[in-house]
Amino acid sequence: MIGSRIAGTGRGVPPQVMTNADLMKIVDTSDSWIVERTGIRERHILDKSLAASDIATEAARKACQAAGVDPGEVDCIILGTVTPDMPFPSTAAFVQKKLGAKAGGCAFDLSAACAGFLYALSIGDAFIRRGQFKRVMVIGVEVLSRIADWTDRGTCVLFGDGAGAVLLVPESDPKKGVLSTHLYADGTFTDILYQPAGGSREPATAATVAENRHVVKMNGREVYKHAVRNMAAASKVALESNGLEAKDVAWVIAHQANIRIIEGVSERVGIALDRFYINVDRYGNTSSASVPTALDEALEMGKIKDGDLLVFSALGGGLAWASAAVRW
Ligand code: ACO
Repeated sequence: MIGSRIAGTGRGVPPQVMTNADLMKIVDTSDSWIVERTGIRERHILDKSLAASDIATEAARKACQAAGVDPGEVDCIILGTVTPDMPFPSTAAFVQKKLGAKAGGCAFDLSAACAGFLYALSIGDAFIRRGQFKRVMVIGVEVLSRIADWTDRGTCVLFGDGAGAVLLVPESDPKKGVLSTHLYADGTFTDILYQPAGGSREPATAATVAENRHVVKMNGREVYKHAVRNMAAASKVALESNGLEAKDVAWVIAHQANIRIIEGVSERVGIALDRFYINVDRYGNTSSASVPTALDEALEMGKIKDGDLLVFSALGGGLAWASAAVRW
């Protein structure tokens, strides 16, 4: 039975940095409030002239380079985002063209908010297992600065822009690569994290714009509780389904929503915080981009070694959440 492994990773990080001090000029907030509540010190903001596909392509190109794979061999692109270039065609289609991936290959977006990358990873792994595709680019990208409510201090301080990509290839050793993925959703919580306008329910009109309905609406406390509980539970399933224990884990790459959520997950799963790779302080919450961006950084810093067991987990709007176990 053929499985999949991550052959290369990359990230696309906009150069412009917005610090907490910069935010203090926009909304009534303070560096200490943001740092204490979230652990975030700065985030990257994409230049207005660029869109999601631009940084997604940069991340994908780097993932190809790291894997030593020509972009023309990439026969499938799966891209998780809630901030596509436009409603259609898919952002993945734009990436296919810009990257020079195989024309006539497969390319599509999926919507699972902050869990988008792990949903995409699961589908990419399944495609490879059934032999449908051989070089699958899995991307998480967000330009959340375009849908953040810059008048709401309770949400705008949380988000940042970025892209992360991994290239999946076949792996014949069942003990290596993507060991398992688990996907979950609970649609009874669609009202705690959402963007009301811009879809078929409330198409863009002058009134929806005037009423500020094209931005993120969130019940932060509710999201917080679900994030800790569900990311922890999904991480435990990732271990148990492979006959593994907390002590076997080299690194947890959890969704970088905020440091208190990560601390809560660490406590519940029984894995020390120093085994969680953390970059939320420098990126903020980049939604579907956060797990692949953190993975790419951890690799670049030489933290991940051959044979290491990694656990990924994320939760976002839907609610949608997911976990994965990966043997490097
Ligand atoms: N600066 C200063 N004060 C603020 C700010 C701010 N940026 N934002 C809110 N406050 C104030 C509020 O107005 C309130 O004041 P009041 O007591 O006078 O009314 C006070 O701080 C407390 O506000 P709460 O919203 O109750 O603060 P809380 O402790 O819940 O922290 C936070 C808010 C950080 C958003 C928290 O709920 C949280 O982390 N939630 C998780 C949400 C999240 O991470 N979402 C990202 C998307 S989903 C995901 O990725 C998992």
